[in-house]
Amino acid sequence: MDKERIKVFADRLFGDMAGAMSAGLGFVGVKTGLFRAMAGKGALTLEEIVGTTKLHSRYVEEWLKGMVCAGYLEYEPGADTYRLPDEHAFLVASEGTDHFMGGLFCMAPVLLRVAPKVALAFEKGGGVPFEDYGADGIEALDLINRGQYEQRFAGHWLKALPAVVARLEAGGRVLDVGCGVGRVALTLARAFPRATIMGLDPDRESVRQASAAAEAEGLAARVWFSAAGAGELGTGEKFDLITACDCVHDFARPLETLKEIRARLAPDGVLLVIEPKAADRLEDNQNSIATMYYGFSVFHCMTQSLAQGGPGLGTCMGPARTGALMREAGFARFEILDIKSQVLAFYAVRP
Ligand SMILES: C[S@@+](CC[C@H](N)C(=O)[O-])C[C@H]1O[C@@H](n2cnc3c(N)ncnc32)[C@H](O)[C@@H]1O
Repeated sequence: MDKERIKVFADRLFGDMAGAMSAGLGFVGVKTGLFRAMAGKGALTLEEIVGTTKLHSRYVEEWLKGMVCAGYLEYEPGADTYRLPDEHAFLVASEGTDHFMGGLFCMAPVLLRVAPKVALAFEKGGGVPFEDYGADGIEALDLINRGQYEQRFAGHWLKALPAVVARLEAGGRVLDVGCGVGRVALTLARAFPRATIMGLDPDRESVRQASAAAEAEGLAARVWFSAAGAGELGTGEKFDLITACDCVHDFARPLETLKEIRARLAPDGVLLVIEPKAADRLEDNQNSIATMYYGFSVFHCMTQSLAQGGPGLGTCMGPARTGALMREAGFARFEILDIKSQVLAFYAVRP
């Protein structure tokens, strides 16, 4: 055995465990407002941070020290002060923007909480149903995706489909499948005041939140949400644009659901599929983002599909498998859209 290799791998294991703890500390930073309280304030003493946040001093002190060790905060020993650099605040104290990454921290406890159930499923089969991830699971998903949907979807991503934009400007119809709490539908409703939009999701709590948001924004006359499946819509219902964001890989009956979606597309309509970005070949996926996505897959995406007797497609489908699935479902054209993103892949699928 190569002793040096053992040492290097031991360091790697400590690094990974430190990463898991940093995610937990990051979760606390987002949830308690500590990152927000420190953003743009420069060097702060413990007393100043406690004074603003009104949190318990001993907890805050230990959190600050942990975040210094993790490299999230800078420490000035002489003055005994802590600073959240502006570049870090840009990513962790920027809720609601398209550059906020703190939502990832909120997903960590949601996923690791079910790790014992997932380990059991390795032995006994089955999985963990979507509802078991709870309200904070829905909230974490929303925190991860919301900023990008609200700030990039209509103004940037849809530019790749100019004919669709023209249709929606004139008052087209949109269906968002797997709509979650409705951010995409509401964003499109705001951007296209003449369009009518329907969101579908089997998760009743997500649909409840989406409907409440549409009501609160005064958009409920043009945006509806339902827990029905696409196959339950009337056969005459046709849509110019159908969106499926971060959900095709979750489907328990992917082929049937995609066929139902295809039947609801207008003849010249487009299905816009947004999926986590992964390479087709495992050897091209050896990086942090794919590692994170395989974790998401084992602890959530694959597992909630297997819980329903589905195939468990998993988070990292990649373009080749996605294209093959679309063709099998009867779509004639599958196009990879040239939209820049580190984490998302965009496909235009046509009947
Ligand atoms: C990862 S979440 C994404 C939610 C939202 N589209 C977003 O991007 O934030 C996946 C969603 O797909 C929904 N879903 C799962 N199976 C579905 C199906 N067969 N039809 C429609 N939605 C489904 C889940 O309930 C969940 O809300």
